[in-house]
Amino acid sequence: MGFPEGFLWGGATAANQCEGGYDEAGRGLANVDVMPHGPERLRVAAGLRKMLSFESGFHYPAKVAIDMYHRYRHDIALFGEMGFKTYRLSIAWTRIFPNGDEEEPNEEGLAFYEKLFVECHRHGIEPLVTITHFDCPIHLIRKYGGWRSRQLIDFYKRLVSVLFERYRGLVRYWLTFNEINMILQLPFMGAGLVFDESENKLEAEARSIHNELVASAWATRIAHEVDSKNLVGCMIAAGSYYPYSCHPEDVRAAQVESQANYFFTDVQARGSYPAFAVKRLERDGIDVGMTDEDHQILAENTADFVSFSYYASRCAAGPDSDAMRIPGDFFGEVRNPYLKRSEWGWAIDPLGLRITLNDLYDRYQKPLFIVENGLGAKDRIEADGSILDDYRIDYLRQHIQAMRDAIDQDGVDLMGYTTWAPIDLISASTGEMSKRYGFIYVDRDDDGEGTLARSRKKSFEWYKRVIATNGEDL
Ligand code: BG6
Repeated sequence: MGFPEGFLWGGATAANQCEGGYDEAGRGLANVDVMPHGPERLRVAAGLRKMLSFESGFHYPAKVAIDMYHRYRHDIALFGEMGFKTYRLSIAWTRIFPNGDEEEPNEEGLAFYEKLFVECHRHGIEPLVTITHFDCPIHLIRKYGGWRSRQLIDFYKRLVSVLFERYRGLVRYWLTFNEINMILQLPFMGAGLVFDESENKLEAEARSIHNELVASAWATRIAHEVDSKNLVGCMIAAGSYYPYSCHPEDVRAAQVESQANYFFTDVQARGSYPAFAVKRLERDGIDVGMTDEDHQILAENTADFVSFSYYASRCAAGPDSDAMRIPGDFFGEVRNPYLKRSEWGWAIDPLGLRITLNDLYDRYQKPLFIVENGLGAKDRIEADGSILDDYRIDYLRQHIQAMRDAIDQDGVDLMGYTTWAPIDLISASTGEMSKRYGFIYVDRDDDGEGTLARSRKKSFEWYKRVIATNGEDL
């Protein structure tokens, strides 16, 4: 009993949040590069403020990030020291195709990831590669309007074909789009969308979503054609919705919110638009541009496994409920009075992970993979230089226990677990460094000051033991 043999323990990062080196070796500019630290960031991410180049007066954390572009050997060695079985990272599209629409890839970019994957294998680490983690070349946004355009499907097919060919034998596990459902909250990050005031925003979003879903199915097909050993996962930001109460209006509200997320995985794991989505599009008079070929590609190329991030469960209430809404919350969520929250207001709910695992497994009956879970917190350095992050250990311990219950008691088929993030990096939502997730501390602050030196936190040894005992010693 307990975690299965070969369970893939590890950690997850994203290129723009850790690499830096934003203009090195022929790399082009991406949406994620021009997202500043500070209050404007969320407006830019949500497509409400157009920022397609660097503007004066802002700090752009992705330019240097934690400089993993130059330090990856050292960082991967630390992951190896913790005994990682897998390391989830993402490819920066603009290292491979700087503008996104070139015919030929940039060899220097390809060589960089090749070296990185070889390094992983030297430490016995299997790479798990996200093809697109919130990034889109700026050129594709300027010229084609981002994922609104079907032409991006072709550019993406070119990108993935190059990646699957070049990294055959080095990479087996692939994810097509990170948190594909976040396009609803963060359309600039998720699809390179900036809205015109005159535009039908719903239609632009629905078309972009459709184009990404079709691109994802093509990627799955090409991956299998290039190497039958390739396994391709879909990926959503998960966290089951609870009704605020047993009032039917609250229950219905939770159902509707859940469907908005399940929609993506329904298409990617089952191969067609669910009935509720077809009806919703009809009601809203939206045409996503579905072709006969799209139908076929979606139906024939479903994901091999379903991966997801889990930070918190969510809560929904009917329109007349007196539930407290969380001001400024991404999801327009309702505060769950039974749960404690992190310093950033994210609900902490380990049992919610077991519930989410069961919900997803019941619905899809495919292997699951938790590819993000962690606690963003401020760390304090003690006089002797140590960092005693027991709060992080507690959070992870409870979530791993919940995961074990889902495997042992509920029979959920779980392939692996990668924490977000094994090393401190730039926060996607705020651009801060001080929202730290790592087992490894990075000396850098929110203004970009610091030596970038790495050091081990208390949680480093703890996670190493968890992996060494395959989750027995928590
Ligand atoms: C997920 C993203 O939404 O959550 C990551 O895939 C992100 O890119 C992570 O970093 C944690 O969110 P944040 O805003 O605390 O960095």
